Amino acid sequence: MKGLIGNVVAFCLTFLVGCSLTAPSSSLDPTSGTPNQAELEPLEWWQQTVVYQVYPRSFQDSDGDGTGDIQGIISRVNYFVELGVEAIWISPIYQSPMADFGYDISNFTNIDPLFGTLDDFKQLSELLRENGIKLIMDFVPNHSSDLHPWFNASVHREGKYADYYVWKDPKGFDAEGKPIPPNNWTSVFAGSMWEWNEVREQFYLHQFVKEQPDLNYENRQVWNEILAATKFWLDMGVDGFRVDAVPHIFEDQRFLDEPFNPWGNPDAQEDEYGSYDHIYTNNLPQVLDFLAEMRMLLDVYTASDGIIRCMMVESAVPSESLMDYYGTEQRPIAHFPFNFNLLGMTPESGAEDLKNLVDVWFQLMPERNWADVLIGNHDNRRASTKWGVEAIDAANMVNMLFKGTSVTYQGEELGMEDRWISWEDTVDPAGCNVGPDRYEQFSRDPARTPFHWDNSTNAGFSTANKTWLPLHQNYPEKNVMTENAAEESHLKVYKELVKIRQRNVWKYGTQSTLVLNDGAVFAMLRAAPISVDQGSVLLLANIGDESQVVDVSSVAGVPPTATVLIRSVGFQDGDTTIGSQIGTNAVPLGPRNSIVLGFPST
Ligand code: NOJ
Ligand code: MG
Repeated sequence: MKGLIGNVVAFCLTFLVGCSLTAPSSSLDPTSGTPNQAELEPLEWWQQTVVYQVYPRSFQDSDGDGTGDIQGIISRVNYFVELGVEAIWISPIYQSPMADFGYDISNFTNIDPLFGTLDDFKQLSELLRENGIKLIMDFVPNHSSDLHPWFNASVHREGKYADYYVWKDPKGFDAEGKPIPPNNWTSVFAGSMWEWNEVREQFYLHQFVKEQPDLNYENRQVWNEILAATKFWLDMGVDGFRVDAVPHIFEDQRFLDEPFNPWGNPDAQEDEYGSYDHIYTNNLPQVLDFLAEMRMLLDVYTASDGIIRCMMVESAVPSESLMDYYGTEQRPIAHFPFNFNLLGMTPESGAEDLKNLVDVWFQLMPERNWADVLIGNHDNRRASTKWGVEAIDAANMVNMLFKGTSVTYQGEELGMEDRWISWEDTVDPAGCNVGPDRYEQFSRDPARTPFHWDNSTNAGFSTANKTWLPLHQNYPEKNVMTENAAEESHLKVYKELVKIRQRNVWKYGTQSTLVLNDGAVFAMLRAAPISVDQGSVLLLANIGDESQVVDVSSVAGVPPTATVLIRSVGFQDGDTTIGSQIGTNAVPLGPRNSIVLGFPST
């Protein structure tokens, strides 16, 4: 797995994983507090839903150009209903030259023609509302596109726009007269964070690609401008935002060189982001001030009608600092920052590693907050790569039974896999920027291939001769149609998991984890605070390659027999059919098998 993760999150993961390891456990550790009556209060929509991430370029193409669009999403709203997910987050669909596939925005208040129009957006938004599905927009405050009119005005030092971006004079000129960048700051996507502009005769800062100039948050006008764009979408009726790349919003104004990263990959090259400790460009305290202001704006809308506008933030920083993004009772910030811990899984990870990755959030999260979890997204290798293809059901089980909001990246429910992409087909700037020798390490294309609807041409995704990225070759077997028809499938496991989440009793109570069978089996017990039928669920996942027989009968709260609620695809024991009773003193688990048992809470 080493070297396979290649993006903004990657450099932090080693650290996140490293700091989460604790001594092996012998007893069941409650990780999420004791149940009490107050917990039986109804949860808010953003707490109980699964957030389903739609990567629009790859979801459904309606006009045959090989790239997904809004009308495509509209035609598939029924799929969200079938899955039972009650909120979708759509990666950016704003006007964009697509240098970073929508994360480079040239108009914050319009839709890119590739995806459709504002009317298409309104149609989607209404249809989702009719179906009780919340809509969360991706929002990118850190940078715009270099083709945004603000940038052009800034290049020409026009009025208030002159310092909308971060401009600096060169440090000097080299022997050939070429301007030298102000410092050694290195971009997330490799190479200098500084790009020379011939017209203005200054460098501008770009934490991501050079087509994504960073906005200058030292300038209050920029705050107002970005908050006005946020307001535009709130007025359009969106239910919240996934706020992109927030640690990059501010830069230290001394513009000092950043030191080398002592924890970094020793093989990393000088032009790589992971080679530096980003003390002057990442996670500056002012970030929280800006986000708190954004949250206040959301709360004004919440106060107007009582429907919560949710703010989830993408912040790839170590878990300890990440907790600051919740804010405080007096100054709330995000409803939750994304919990990336489970991206630390590899096929080599054991049950102890998994336990630590699951538990760390609850060890750090301040009491009154709500957790969340995800196992993949459009920036990382797919969950089936990180956990191993046979363990995708286990991955979905952990994700969906976790005591917090679960986030699913499109295709995880099918067990979609990464597809190898040739250098010629590579389009992701994170891959293109480092050249043919290193692109496989950094490109995010493998996890972004089109969604598999059925076994027809292009998996029913598009009628185009060529899609923007090639499809995975396994789409004829792994697709919605086939998996719905099969007796057992990842999709069916996923739908059952959503149903368990929807049972009210599940949402409350404790979450406890345990490692069994010499580090081979991971157990997670969710116990409801009230005594009800099937009020507790126990997940058992064999993380190893050997068959195991697990005895959980002496674990507190686990009765001698339990009902089999869900089991992974290809489960190797015939006596554990869904609905059957099973002795908890001998639960058979083949390699990478996982099972969910239900029983009354005590
Ligand atoms: C994080 C997004 O998830 C990623 O796809 C994007 O490239 C960067 N932020 C820059 O916006
Ligand atoms: Mg910035």
